[in-house]
Amino acid sequence: MEIGKVGVLGCGLMGHGIAQICAQNGWDVVVREIDQGRLDRGMGKISKQLGRAVEKGKLEQADADAVLARITPTLDYGDLADCDLVIEAITEDLDGKLDMWREVDAIVKDDAYLATNTSSLSVADQAAVTGRPDRFIGLHFFNPAQVMPLLEVVRAEGSGDDAVQLGFDLGDALGKTTVAARDNRGFIVNRLLVPYMFDAMRALEQGVGSVQDIDTGMMAGASHPMGPLTLADFVGLDTLVAISEVMVESYGEDRFAAPDTLRSLVDAGNLGRKSGRGFYDYSGEKPVPVDPA
Ligand SMILES: NC(=O)c1ccc[n+]([C@@H]2O[C@H](COP(=O)([O-])OP(=O)(O)OC[C@H]3O[C@@H](n4cnc5c(N)ncnc54)[C@H](O)[C@@H]3O)[C@@H](O)[C@H]2O)c1
Repeated sequence: MEIGKVGVLGCGLMGHGIAQICAQNGWDVVVREIDQGRLDRGMGKISKQLGRAVEKGKLEQADADAVLARITPTLDYGDLADCDLVIEAITEDLDGKLDMWREVDAIVKDDAYLATNTSSLSVADQAAVTGRPDRFIGLHFFNPAQVMPLLEVVRAEGSGDDAVQLGFDLGDALGKTTVAARDNRGFIVNRLLVPYMFDAMRALEQGVGSVQDIDTGMMAGASHPMGPLTLADFVGLDTLVAISEVMVESYGEDRFAAPDTLRSLVDAGNLGRKSGRGFYDYSGEKPVPVDPA
């Protein structure tokens, strides 16, 4: 199937990036949020990133304008009706996603494909509340979606071959490296990465090293581009707690449980980079590590 128009649900960390790369690829995009403030903030981020690309000489101003013009921001599910593919990137909460899919499935044309960008929830559970589980897949992008090369294409139990093929074709069109993953919690990458970040937090709690030393250790000692605590801030600490709950329930293993430090930070409203504070304070020019008292 030819994709002409893509719907994106959510214009947060992931949604704005997915909307941007789809528009940069020449597709018309409709991006839906729940309130005007969030929609404006997400569109503002897209605008800023395109502006930066122009400044660096990577993009012509006219092309940046054309990308923005291809994106229609909306609060109305109805504007998704004629999309060929709808990708959701809303808050990691199963009930919220199921309510959203019931609405979207009733509005979007019958031959459209649907995809979830969930990090940890079941793709099949989401597909089951739609009338088209054969046209439903997981498309797991990485943060930031504009930069990270990987796309996990997830086949759920009822996914049809056409839908899975569409996922790989979309990845190719966007210049992503694609891998096939089974519909298990965390797919491939988060299944390995989440316990690693949690272990770093436990090492911090046990005084093995400071925030800075743990991150520097893994960068200089394992050639990781960023340390595990920086990465956690980047992913969003609330999102990590949500992922942990699903993984503990699914695998029943302690290594997937959210450490106390993570829970305390989230309870205090410190969600990482997106809220300005997490394991680091982002209010100044450079992130400053915040070691637990
Ligand atoms: N943060 C990451 O690194 C990352 C990476 C890959 C996948 N994901 C997944 O992507 C999804 C979004 O995560 P995020 O980090 O972008 O979260 P986020 O909190 O930055 O953004 C979620 C957005 O969804 C909006 N939203 C909630 N309900 C909605 C609805 N019914 N319709 C439209 N918008 C709605 C919220 O207002 C919010 O702006 C989650 O499923 C998460 O697991 C996150």
